[in-house]
Amino acid sequence: METKVAQASRPVDTMTGPDIKTALPGPRAKALIERDRSVVSPSYTRCYPLVIERGSGAFVEDVDGNIFLDCAAGIAVNSTGHSHPAVVTAITDQAQKFLHMSGTDFYYEPQVRLAEEMAAIAPISGGVRTFFGNSGTEVVEACVKLARYTTGRQNIIAFLGGFHGRTMGSLALTASKAVQRRGFGPLMPGVYHAPYADCYRCPLGLNPETCAAECLGFIDDQLFAHLVTPDEVAAIVVEPIQGEGGYVVAPEQFLQRLRELTQKHGILLVADEVQSGMGRSGKMFAIEYCGVEPDAMSIAKGIASGMPLGVAVARAGLMAWPPGAHASTFGGNPVSCAAALATIKLLRDRLVANAAEVGGHLMNGLRELADRHRLIGDVRGRGLMIGVELVRDRTTKERATDERDKVVDAAFRRGLLLLGAGKNAVRFSPPLVLTREQADVAVRIFDEALAEVERAR
Ligand SMILES: Cc1ncc(COP(=O)(O)O)c(C=O)c1O
Repeated sequence: METKVAQASRPVDTMTGPDIKTALPGPRAKALIERDRSVVSPSYTRCYPLVIERGSGAFVEDVDGNIFLDCAAGIAVNSTGHSHPAVVTAITDQAQKFLHMSGTDFYYEPQVRLAEEMAAIAPISGGVRTFFGNSGTEVVEACVKLARYTTGRQNIIAFLGGFHGRTMGSLALTASKAVQRRGFGPLMPGVYHAPYADCYRCPLGLNPETCAAECLGFIDDQLFAHLVTPDEVAAIVVEPIQGEGGYVVAPEQFLQRLRELTQKHGILLVADEVQSGMGRSGKMFAIEYCGVEPDAMSIAKGIASGMPLGVAVARAGLMAWPPGAHASTFGGNPVSCAAALATIKLLRDRLVANAAEVGGHLMNGLRELADRHRLIGDVRGRGLMIGVELVRDRTTKERATDERDKVVDAAFRRGLLLLGAGKNAVRFSPPLVLTREQADVAVRIFDEALAEVERAR
């Protein structure tokens, strides 16, 4: 028997492109935004007034019947597209059996099966154990706690521009936008930040083709020399591709050298793949591009196609804390685990390969736009995790922050959902079901949006 959701989704499925019928926001959207304004936390950053009614595949319909092509995917979460029938079926089947039993106190198969799957897909050899949470921030904190616990060391090194979450522990690692930290101090002590390898803006003026990740010298020459000795550092936490920081891709040698450095000093290497993981990069995990095995990883967002779930995976020998040391009531909820199992099957069968293939196509389309649009300073990324950095001047690389916001808004008015990342980049993080044709539509609308903003300058 078909579920209601699958039936309701069908009309959106048949769409080939956006269809905007009302001024945005439309009347129903306006009314809901008005209600939201007085009762929902004003700390949320809503960059345009989208009020979703339902979604299917790479399309979203709003409450006024407008159809959008979604290249934001709920901040890189809807990996298998909106309400993929196989995921919906897995969720409803599990929901009919039981909704919750707390995997921290009892046992159930979906949680064990998911831990087995994580051991199969995590790029860590020799056995892997999984800790279950509900979000990215929780599993970053789980990695930090595990690192402190197992090494007996207190300090953590993270990177400028990095985003690791907003609860008090992970917020101390987050160094993306100052407003995210402002007013919340003192944060967890013992966190040091080093420069990330932003090759488009290399402060050392080096060429990524020939450089040996000289920026990492900062850790040896500055941090270890002046602030903290390596034997007191528990972990280095790094995003293989910085997400919120602007979709900045670390060159392979950066992560390889980081691995050497951590190994030399007995420091754990934690890859935060909350955004870059689960196929988005065109490989299951972005760190696989450089052949580096981390000691632990934080994974969330795309893992369960939109159901709340985060996992921390670590080398089995490392995750050896005793009962009671760490747990979460809701972590590894059975419905979320069922959604994750269905998601992983879809990713393995086709969608990781699709992310690589369609991502390459989208990247080429966006790079071609750079010939026509002086606003485009850099197009970078892997798979369907692509950032376009906008600049006012290609020589000075002055950041085009206002223009970026206007481009995202102009794309929205034309029916393309995008999000900003960092100070002046636009991110393309569509569902991994995106087709080449849909990618072409996204490029066409982005082209028009850029042209509109350039005309108005
Ligand atoms: C790399 C990374 N780590 C951690 C987080 C925090 O995840 P959550 O918002 O689920 O707590 C994010 C969220 O954007 C992220 O991109």
